[in-house]
Amino acid sequence: MKNVTKTPAHVAIIMDGNGRWAQRRHHPRIFGHIRGASRIRDIVLEADRLGVKALTLYAFSTENWERPEAEKSVLWKLLIKFLKREEAELARNGVRLRMIGDIDRLDSKVREVLDPVVSRLSENTGLQLTFAVSYGARQEILLAAKAYARDCLEKRLCPDSLSEEGFSKYLANGDLGPLADVDLVIRTSGEFRISNFLLWQSAYAEYIFLEKCWPDFLPVDLRNAVESYLKRDRRFGGVTLPPLRSAPKEETSA
Ligand code: FPP
Repeated sequence: MKNVTKTPAHVAIIMDGNGRWAQRRHHPRIFGHIRGASRIRDIVLEADRLGVKALTLYAFSTENWERPEAEKSVLWKLLIKFLKREEAELARNGVRLRMIGDIDRLDSKVREVLDPVVSRLSENTGLQLTFAVSYGARQEILLAAKAYARDCLEKRLCPDSLSEEGFSKYLANGDLGPLADVDLVIRTSGEFRISNFLLWQSAYAEYIFLEKCWPDFLPVDLRNAVESYLKRDRRFGGVTLPPLRSAPKEETSA
């Protein structure tokens, strides 16, 4: 049991509602993605300022591959643009950039930009910024199970020794160590779903669902979410006992 007293170490955000944001303004959906992408920088810097140690942003799910080619192509262009435009600022702030998900599915043109940026920022020890791209939690858990089974078959491990902590290391963000578990998940756009995002790592996370769409999400919204998290009582399945007080007279004088 742990009452929340400090900034969430790991915040994960489902950046949802770009399409609806644009459509409500009679713009094409991609307009929402463009505005959404432009929000990321300030949120990363605000997370850092607030003392968040790891920030994971859900940028593209395994299911998003079903979207029209034109929309996907805009998303990849925005990712490339973000990397080119923000690398220096991320480096200045000591941000380490990581990717989780099946990035082998990305076009080689995207990888040509992405891989060197990730590599150049990989030694940084500040905020651990992760983009979940071509990501699905069930797929991630299956891959981890396969890798674990392989290690058992090759006698490096034995099935009975499998522990939660040991298994976590096989997951895509296992290298984050104690930061891998998510403390706070935020989802924008008024949807109340998890959408296959960090299912294992969010087992005990606190959730905040906001009505506003991602392109309207500002640093102050992140601050408010953290403040609201700080008021929560995280019991991890335990109980919170009321504060101790001296027993009333009649109970003690018998
Ligand atoms: C969900 O909105 C958002 C996405 C599928 C993509 C998120 C991408 C960005 C914020 C920009 C590009 C990313 C980077 C890393 C620079 P939606 O399109 O599903 O909205 P809807 O539910 O209203 O249709």
